[in-house]
Amino acid sequence: MNCMMWFGILIVFFTATACTQTAEISVRGINFNENQIVQGQQIYAQFCASCHGANGEGQFPDAPLVPDSTGRFGAPPHTGAGHTWHHGDELLIRYVQEGGMGSPSSFYPMPAFGDSLTEDDILLVIAYLKTLWNDEQRAYQQQATEAEHSN
Ligand code: HEC
Repeated sequence: MNCMMWFGILIVFFTATACTQTAEISVRGINFNENQIVQGQQIYAQFCASCHGANGEGQFPDAPLVPDSTGRFGAPPHTGAGHTWHHGDELLIRYVQEGGMGSPSSFYPMPAFGDSLTEDDILLVIAYLKTLWNDEQRAYQQQATEAEHSN
């Protein structure tokens, strides 16, 4: 095999590797690139991590989906271990804009961010959350998003 052929094989290999690493992330049908995901991660670190955990593991990572001794649920994980990926884009956006929807006797409160974050910021942070899910979870959430539009 000559040198050019090896070169060709290498190009194919690196292209294939690069493509599998950048799975397409979109929110409201808008695609987000890696720089935007990093921005979303920074917004997350500043506004969300104090409750939802530095890596989205939730407020009580040892038992994230059960109430604590006060009988209330803490901030849920945003990773695949939680249920954020069960909700479509519009519900997630509304959650961040309007804050917690659970009853205060069963849930710790989540503040509304509609005044402190722009809609663009909120889309960025949701794009980041989607990187915490696996392909099946992203596909499920995509269907939930499409179901929102057919309602
Ligand atoms: C003060 C703590 C706190 C902060 C800060 C906070 N959250 Fe929450 N969040 C909660 C709690 C508690 C719940 C569950 C309560 C409820 O549903 O009413 C929740 C629920 C959610 C949900 C719905 C949960 C799900 O998995 O279905 C989303 C989405 C969410 N938060 C996103 C965010 C984002 C994005 C930020 C940052 C912009 C943020 N939260 C900041 C406490 C917080």
